[in-house]
Amino acid sequence: MSKIEQIKVIIVGAGNRGQTYARHMKSFNNGKGFKIVGVAEPDDARRNDVKATYEIPDENVYTTWEDILNRPKFADVAVISTMDRMHYGPAMKAIELGYDLLLEKPVSPEPKECADILKAARAKGTKIMVCHVLRYTSAFRSLKHFIQSGKLGKIMSVQHTEAVGNLHQSHSFVRGRWGNSCETSPMLLQKSCHDLDIIQWFLDKKCKKIQSFGSLKYFTPENAPAGATDRCHEGCPVADTCPYEATRVYYKDAPNWLKHAFTRPFDSEEERREHFLKSQYSRCVFKCDNNVVDHQTVNMLFEDDITVTFTMAAFNKGGRSTRVMGTKGELFFEDDLASARFFNFDTRSYEELPTNEARVDASINGGHGGGDTGIVAVLYDYINDEIDMKEVSEIGISIENHMLVFAAEESRMTNTVVDIKEYNDKIMGKSFEF
Ligand SMILES: NC(=O)c1ccc[n+]([C@@H]2O[C@H](COP(=O)([O-])OP(=O)(O)OC[C@H]3O[C@@H](n4cnc5c(N)ncnc54)[C@H](O)[C@@H]3O)[C@@H](O)[C@H]2O)c1
Repeated sequence: MSKIEQIKVIIVGAGNRGQTYARHMKSFNNGKGFKIVGVAEPDDARRNDVKATYEIPDENVYTTWEDILNRPKFADVAVISTMDRMHYGPAMKAIELGYDLLLEKPVSPEPKECADILKAARAKGTKIMVCHVLRYTSAFRSLKHFIQSGKLGKIMSVQHTEAVGNLHQSHSFVRGRWGNSCETSPMLLQKSCHDLDIIQWFLDKKCKKIQSFGSLKYFTPENAPAGATDRCHEGCPVADTCPYEATRVYYKDAPNWLKHAFTRPFDSEEERREHFLKSQYSRCVFKCDNNVVDHQTVNMLFEDDITVTFTMAAFNKGGRSTRVMGTKGELFFEDDLASARFFNFDTRSYEELPTNEARVDASINGGHGGGDTGIVAVLYDYINDEIDMKEVSEIGISIENHMLVFAAEESRMTNTVVDIKEYNDKIMGKSFEF
């Protein structure tokens, strides 16, 4: 295949993620690497914004994914960045039309749909990169590089934690749009599929067995303080002391990423506040329609008897940490402390690792610690066949990862240990090669 110097792109779903990728594509290689040539977005303001910013001609501007994909292919890559349960339709149609894809995770909350997309892509020879942004951050790349160096000896055990942060949990997974898995997807798939991706990528081995525990225990009606009102500003008796009191969370003590929570432009601060008070974000965190877990653990057994534990929990400040334990030493990473260190068993001393940006501001507003820029750069090389495939979160790797998540959820629901080969045989067909 001859090199595509400037990759033509359509954006299907120009919300937060779609616009983020479009922006990074525009700035990649001074605008020479990508060109946004089409958009499908039902929201008038967003659609017009993208049309104007990227100078997209009228005939390439559409309201829905069905409309834009009802026409023959007119670009190289389709960015599918609609919401979780609207990836399958556009992905399958775009594959059929011959597009390569940048596809938001989760690929789909349904195992069968994930299998369909992978099989359709394989049959057609479609390149699909799934947006597991963490592996494109410089910090996690540095850790991977160190693990590959062999300094740890034989890896025996991994501990990885995603401390979601109590305010992040309450904003996105209690009050917010990812609180109810029937509308979006389970927590492990939505939030922690990045973490399971990192673990698999670090080890470069297959998981054999998986077991998970976890539940929604705290953000439930039973834990509502006596007399708590449905909305914080309705005279709630614990308003002064509750850490989730909405005015404090979104106004007074709001961290930067929460100050930007209401992206819609408002004519005045008064209009913004009025909108806020009626919105889902002013609700009592104990009286929402959330059902996703607020704490979960996953135990995994990988090839070569490597044991792995993963913990996700809401009850913390936020940040990720990782310990990789080998026969020659231990690697310890804490993103919140900007620290990655190797403890060498020979010298009995620590070596600091050059992680470049060890501090991963993994929030969306933090650009996922450089992951959003990184993924666009890797996409360019992937489309042009100029990259080691093991570095790319391509669809086969991603679906293998999604199957781990689905198997972990099955374990959690049924109180069993799930054999991964048996699970994959059941969903993908016997001995499917990812
Ligand atoms: N990779 C990551 O780290 C990461 C981070 C956040 C979100 N996500 C995922 O990205 C996806 C998008 O999330 P978001 O925050 O950008 O959501 P969003 O709501 O901001 O964007 C989705 C867009 O799709 C549009 N849309 C709705 N119906 C459509 C249709 N029929 N045709 C075309 N467009 C349509 C919506 O109007 C909206 O603008 C979700 O699946 C989410 O889980 C991934």
